[in-house]
Amino acid sequence: MDLGIKGKKAIVNGGSAGMGRSSVLALAREGVEVFVSARGEERLSRACVEIASETGAKVTPIAADHSSEEGRNRILAACPEPDILVHTCSPPQFTGDFKAITEADWHASLGITLLGPIQFMQKLLPGMAARGWGRVVNIGTAGAKFPHERRVLSGAPRAALVNYTVAVSKVVAKDNVTINNIMPGMFHTPGLEVAFAEIAEANGTSYDEEVENVIREHNVAAGKFGDPDDLGAFVAMFCSQYASYLVGQSLAIEGGVTNSTF
Ligand SMILES: NC(=O)c1ccc[n+]([C@@H]2O[C@H](COP(=O)([O-])OP(=O)(O)OC[C@H]3O[C@@H](n4cnc5c(N)ncnc54)[C@H](OP(=O)(O)O)[C@@H]3O)[C@@H](O)[C@H]2O)c1
Repeated sequence: MDLGIKGKKAIVNGGSAGMGRSSVLALAREGVEVFVSARGEERLSRACVEIASETGAKVTPIAADHSSEEGRNRILAACPEPDILVHTCSPPQFTGDFKAITEADWHASLGITLLGPIQFMQKLLPGMAARGWGRVVNIGTAGAKFPHERRVLSGAPRAALVNYTVAVSKVVAKDNVTINNIMPGMFHTPGLEVAFAEIAEANGTSYDEEVENVIREHNVAAGKFGDPDDLGAFVAMFCSQYASYLVGQSLAIEGGVTNSTF
């Protein structure tokens, strides 16, 4: 299926690994020129070279921390007028006892998961609206809708981001600019591997055993963790020409772990 976005320009923040990388790949396959940010230069350059050679698309790395103003300015200098913005990061740290979370932990998580994407939207939406075309997708977490004590540093700021998305998407929708969220459940990504490695070490188990424990304890209906490339395809769909009537939505892609009617 041709998504009708060939020749568009995209910024993908947090695109050197995991679901961000999969989003870059899916957009590049559609003929989108992609500007990709991440902090670690080596993995970023490698991802961009691999995706460019696989798809033939132009893929430009920008080594930058999108939670800092300096980093955001560097990304926007490289691509001042994108048609598409995809924003993500690594999973914020898992938390055990909510009473142990410090104020510094909250500031760090809020900067990366909430204030960064809001600053990008505030800067880019007026231009998209003036040009009459824009697509924004934030990759958040299913934990925003389905809270869990271990994921409050991730879920609570993304719930705020969803609130912001719904409110602001209504302002720009008439200009063919849409803002939506994809809310992942458990996916095999480098970020998750890091988080689970720590848990496995503490429990004297392996990554695979921890995955099996989560599938069992949380009744993951699909019986497995997700493949990031499957989620990347949904990101591209949300960025397509067909998404002009998809306004302020949040799609949980979580293998049936949660239980609700809508
Ligand atoms: N994996 C899961 O099971 C899972 C479950 C629920 C929700 N999620 C959510 O899904 C999203 C993606 O997670 P993931 O597992 O795909 O993450 P990941 O594998 O760690 O990849 C994250 C990407 O973002 C980049 N990044 C992180 N912080 C950044 C920053 N401040 N500035 C620029 N780039 C940054 C990382 O590169 P650098 O480190 O080099 O900067 C990397 O390219 C996150 O919002 C996460 O909370 C994931």
